[in-house]
Amino acid sequence: MRRMDTQTHKKRTWAEPYKIKMVELLRMTTREERLVAIREAGYNTFLTRSRDVYIDLLTDSGTSAMSDRQWAGMMLGDEAYSGSENFYHLESVVREYYGYKYLVPTHQGRGAENLMSKILIEKGDYVPGNMYFTTTRLHQELAGGIFVDVIVDEAHEPESTFQFKGNVDLRKLAALVDEVGANHVPYISLEGNVNMAGGQPFSMANLRELRLYCDQHDIPIMLDATRTIENAWFIREREDGYARKTVREILREICDMTDGCTMSAKKDALVNIGGFFACNDDEVYQKAQNLVVVYEGLHTYGGMAGRDMEAMAQGIREAVTEEHMAARIGQVRYLGQKLEAAGVPIVEPIGSHAIFLDVRRFLPHIDQDEYPAQALAAELFIESGIRSMERGNVSAGRDPVTGENRRPRLELVRLTIPRRVYTQAHMDVVAECVIDLYQRREQIRGLKMVYEPEYLRFFQARFEPIA
Ligand code: F0G
Repeated sequence: MRRMDTQTHKKRTWAEPYKIKMVELLRMTTREERLVAIREAGYNTFLTRSRDVYIDLLTDSGTSAMSDRQWAGMMLGDEAYSGSENFYHLESVVREYYGYKYLVPTHQGRGAENLMSKILIEKGDYVPGNMYFTTTRLHQELAGGIFVDVIVDEAHEPESTFQFKGNVDLRKLAALVDEVGANHVPYISLEGNVNMAGGQPFSMANLRELRLYCDQHDIPIMLDATRTIENAWFIREREDGYARKTVREILREICDMTDGCTMSAKKDALVNIGGFFACNDDEVYQKAQNLVVVYEGLHTYGGMAGRDMEAMAQGIREAVTEEHMAARIGQVRYLGQKLEAAGVPIVEPIGSHAIFLDVRRFLPHIDQDEYPAQALAAELFIESGIRSMERGNVSAGRDPVTGENRRPRLELVRLTIPRRVYTQAHMDVVAECVIDLYQRREQIRGLKMVYEPEYLRFFQARFEPIA
């Protein structure tokens, strides 16, 4: 089995490892209709209606196409309040593929982040992480923690071609621990295929070093497993000694070196809703199992229906296959290479779940406080009906101490590719539209923010064009 897999992997081209049984018709709109739509949405793609979208690259979260087997699993939903069969099935699959002893299901990733932050963080604690993720950091802050970025410098440089931009910089971590003391560092938050850095992996060598350091200082490693199967693929592709291992084996090796995880199953696990917290520690598990009933639901469903848990169990099995991952990475890379060939500035190396336009280079004439990435996402929608997402100054929010915009070094627009949904021809259309926009980039103007919500402002903030 493994030899055949390795050979498949070595082939130069990839194809979708499925055929299409049902289709969803797309709606084309006119430029005028889209102009009205984006104005009504306050120039925020999160507030546009899906019916006005042609190709939806807003997110890879909950947007996967499920397989016939997953849909069949939906019919096996054991919709019991307590002790659903589907929970025990999911628990056994998570144990088998991720390897953690205990599973606490949640409605999605941030539900798990809430539980973990509340259980592990005490007021004034420092939580180091390999770059922030929006909801992860917010839950750490709401629990009284202070997030500290300990990712390698290369992660903040869109042009750096470093192969493991998701790595933890052990010197940054050690500096923090020396300064505040290990007893004020409840855990390190380690994300697989770091989303905000462009979908960039950490290496196994880095994780091994991190494990050693954390063992010496008695600091747990909590994994954000959301896109860790994709991280495993890159380890296989790029790291010495892993070329002949399977993605499944590498995933297990990663998890075995960590103490627990939060998971948004809406990504890697190929489902439209769901997540979990998992760990090995008895006491942490007991607390999570208790707290989940406050925020999510009973510990054998945690906000999911039985059918959702069944679809997830099957989704995990499909996600770790070599054929799935080859097509997944292949499709994203196909789009990225088309843009690169046309000189469009994107984050290097091409990541697993999205192409990130480097807006500092795309729109150098717009100041960061005029939200250039937000403006570019709005313009792409108006021109083409393609929906993308800002990942820059709006997403980064304000510094809780100074109240100023954080003005992150990465000012990006994310073209996120849903799993198993669009074809190569769709990718061609996307490339054409982005290239057209790049060729007339001087005409694009900045935005001013006219409404700013208190939490996770990027979801609901409203903007107007600067005259
Ligand atoms: N961690 C990572 C790395 C994520 O990308 C996300 C969600 C979460 C946690 C939270 O999970 O949405 O299930 O509550 N990312 C989505 C995105 C929203 O579009 O990148 P959730």
